[in-house]
Amino acid sequence: MQRPVRLGLIGCGGIVRLNHAPGYRAIPELVRVTALADPAGDNLRRMGELLAVPPDLRYADYREMLERAELDAVTIATPHHMHAEQAIDAAAAGVAVVSEKPMATSVEQAQEVLAAVRRGGAPYTVVHNFLFTPGMERARALLADGAAGTPFFGRAKSLFNKTDDQADPNTVWRASRAAGGGAINDTAYHEIYLLESLVGSPVRYVEARVATQHFAFDVDDLALLLLEHEGGALSTVATSWCVPGGDAGESANLAEVHGSTGGVRVMRRGRGLWRYARSARQWQEVALEPRPTQAESGHGRYFAATFDALARGAPPPISGESALHNLRIVAAARRATAERRAVELPAAADR
Ligand SMILES: NC(=O)c1ccc[n+]([C@@H]2O[C@H](COP(=O)([O-])OP(=O)(O)OC[C@H]3O[C@@H](n4cnc5c(N)ncnc54)[C@H](O)[C@@H]3O)[C@@H](O)[C@H]2O)c1
Repeated sequence: MQRPVRLGLIGCGGIVRLNHAPGYRAIPELVRVTALADPAGDNLRRMGELLAVPPDLRYADYREMLERAELDAVTIATPHHMHAEQAIDAAAAGVAVVSEKPMATSVEQAQEVLAAVRRGGAPYTVVHNFLFTPGMERARALLADGAAGTPFFGRAKSLFNKTDDQADPNTVWRASRAAGGGAINDTAYHEIYLLESLVGSPVRYVEARVATQHFAFDVDDLALLLLEHEGGALSTVATSWCVPGGDAGESANLAEVHGSTGGVRVMRRGRGLWRYARSARQWQEVALEPRPTQAESGHGRYFAATFDALARGAPPPISGESALHNLRIVAAARRATAERRAVELPAAADR
């Protein structure tokens, strides 16, 4: 693949402005944004100006961009229900696909995406950015060094208190089922892969309640999962859009793992880190240098690792299969809710 990778953006909305664009601008030797597609004229123009993409390479229709622009790869950052079709079209055009999560809104659609990727022959990856934050990267290094011993319990909490405006399905796609919204798909999605990574073992059984408890919309605003991992560890995820979480103290959002000798707690999706020594019965903060900013989301390091791999012709760090597995857990949680029973997932060896 060409170096720097010639990248087209499908979707130029909020996350692209906040986290993707700064991520690309930090690695000009690896990636250059050469074309944009978004039907929202204002977003297209603003991103074109920010990334110095000339007007003739800004498209209202991503299909036209795929036909006309010279691209090695695209990033998809659109409402969830569009991801699968856009990925299938991009794969058919022979370009690599970097898709925002979730890869699709159902397991069946996700399997169609992977089939199209196999036919097209170009790489495919999904943005699991919070694995790449300073806190998560350091946590994994501590765990590899034996900081927890053998893990037996994990826990993740991501509580957010949306306003009525943020939960209005007439104006916000995340608040609508037709667009693939809801708390488990949009928010708990991240906590699920974070927990698997901390526990170091794939989820095998899912018990859950995914519910609409507060807002007047047709998606879920509360997701509670009880997971059993292949290695025997148990973990829980508590995610809400209608409960204040917060960034400080006991109420802060976190993902943690406990084992035979200690524990590791990643705060605020990787912007802080603590470790626990069972022998000393003490928590200790682990300093992260440089100190992560409020906007730290792991996107920058995820893109650096991904575009470096794409430019070298190596597999990207997050595979389509691991994103499909994450989506299977989301789907299993919905099924566990409907059937009020634990749902079994395929064992890693059988996937
Ligand atoms: N990984 C993370 O931490 C993270 C954080 C926020 C958002 N996201 C993901 O990014 C994606 C976008 O979220 P957002 O917050 O930026 O939403 P947004 O609503 O701010 O932006 C979506 C953009 O897609 C555009 N769009 C709609 N239809 C399109 C089409 N057919 N072709 C091209 N563009 C089209 C819209 O005009 C808009 O500009 C979602 O998948 C979301 O889950 C991920």
